[in-house]
Amino acid sequence: MTLRVRLTLWYGTALALILIIFSTVLYVMTARSLRDAVDQSLEETAAAAVRALEERGFLPLVDEGELMSQFPELARIDKFFQIFSPSGTITIRSPNVKQHEMPLSRQALEVAYSGRTLFESAKYPKEPPLRLISVPIVYRGSLLYIIQVGTTMDSVEHTLNRLLLVLLVSMPVALAVSLAGGWFMAGRALRPVDAITLAAQRIAEGDLTQRLTAPASVDEIGRLTNTFNDMIDRLETSFRQIRQFSSDASHELRTPLTVMRGETELALRRPREPEDYKAVMESNLEEIDRMTRIVDELLFLSRADMGEVKMEHLPVSLDSLIEDVQRQASLLGQEREVQVVLSCTAPAVVSGDELRLRELFLNLVDNAIKYSRSGGTVEMALTIEQGQARLSVTDHGIGITQEDQSQIFNRFYRTDNARAHTKKGTGLGLAICSWIAESHRGQIEVQSRVGEGSTFTVRLPLISAA
Ligand SMILES: Nc1ncnc2c1ncn2[C@@H]1O[C@H](COP(=O)(O)OP(=O)(O)OP(=O)(O)O)[C@@H](O)[C@H]1O
Ligand SMILES: [Mg+2]
Repeated sequence: MTLRVRLTLWYGTALALILIIFSTVLYVMTARSLRDAVDQSLEETAAAAVRALEERGFLPLVDEGELMSQFPELARIDKFFQIFSPSGTITIRSPNVKQHEMPLSRQALEVAYSGRTLFESAKYPKEPPLRLISVPIVYRGSLLYIIQVGTTMDSVEHTLNRLLLVLLVSMPVALAVSLAGGWFMAGRALRPVDAITLAAQRIAEGDLTQRLTAPASVDEIGRLTNTFNDMIDRLETSFRQIRQFSSDASHELRTPLTVMRGETELALRRPREPEDYKAVMESNLEEIDRMTRIVDELLFLSRADMGEVKMEHLPVSLDSLIEDVQRQASLLGQEREVQVVLSCTAPAVVSGDELRLRELFLNLVDNAIKYSRSGGTVEMALTIEQGQARLSVTDHGIGITQEDQSQIFNRFYRTDNARAHTKKGTGLGLAICSWIAESHRGQIEVQSRVGEGSTFTVRLPLISAA
């Protein structure tokens, strides 16, 4: 059953219930107020009759003619009279009483003896229902007569039947019209959902460029559409990244393999001296080292993605770690005649994994040395700022363009400038750095100008003084 059918059914059921309750109440109230009106007019007529009898000093009426002259209004209105003796037998009655005998009911007689008035409904076959009032006339403590005034409920019946007919006809019509309206409205409201379903199907078939046209209003459907589009955006980006990543990874691994294959083939072409073989083996070993590094780093990153890398959470004193890194980096720098200096330091303790933090700083200094010009300097500085340890590595090398700055933390991303500057490097170093910084609840950022140099800054939260 579709949502549209269900909505319409719910709506229809609720409406039908309301209509039924409303009609029933209307019918019952109308019936009651009509009967009350009849009762009131019967009461008034009976009171007039009692007054007339009183004026005559309760002398018994002799015949119908006398009755009619006493109560002239009787002839005109649709009411009839009967006067009963205390034993319940008819003494006299108005001529408009129909052919039926209408004896006084046992209940009316009993009530009359107790001195009270009684309203009754009576029904004779093939006649419209009647409404009767029986009023006792008590004189000096004894019951003289019982006056009964009656009228047909003909017009009341008629009005009620007409009302019933109107209700019975209009109710289904109203229900049908509003069901049709509900069906139409539900269809209209749910149309965007169909559009979303269609788009989702096309996306499931692999077309990630599909987007939903955003509706003008910011209602539930509008929010759903926007959320859906955002989700597809992210999916598309991450699919693109995955594709890019595998192609980059295979490319990076193919280069050393091509080199190894070329050199080996060349060496095997004719017999050679042992030194030549040794040279080839050494070169191959270099390439194998390179591939091993790439594979290790990839493995590390994919385990990090899956949350499988274990991290220590121990106090690490950054100042001594930085001094250590500086010593190690100075040795590295000697090769390229780059000086590594530690311009300032401050006592700082953070919580984390010392080995990983060392790797993070070494990667940054390694980059700084690699992308410096020979004879340059690299400055390291450790300061405390707003409750955070702030470590910066500054070089005066090739620099990074503004567009590249947002990309260099992506896996395998290397700028053209860097490729021209040095062959070494896979583009995984900064990806690892940013993962390490983030898993220490820190940030890493870069400021750089092309040709002037770059500064990489790492911020780490200090351990709270305990
Ligand atoms: N100090 C720097 N000066 C200029 N460019 C830099 C600097 N540090 C990083 N880059 C740019 O960012 C890119 C990514 O750096 P990353 O450390 O991830 O890779 P890499 O150094 O090329 O290779 P490796 O995986 O060996 O570290 C570099 O290729 C380079 O283009
Ligand atoms: Mg690097």
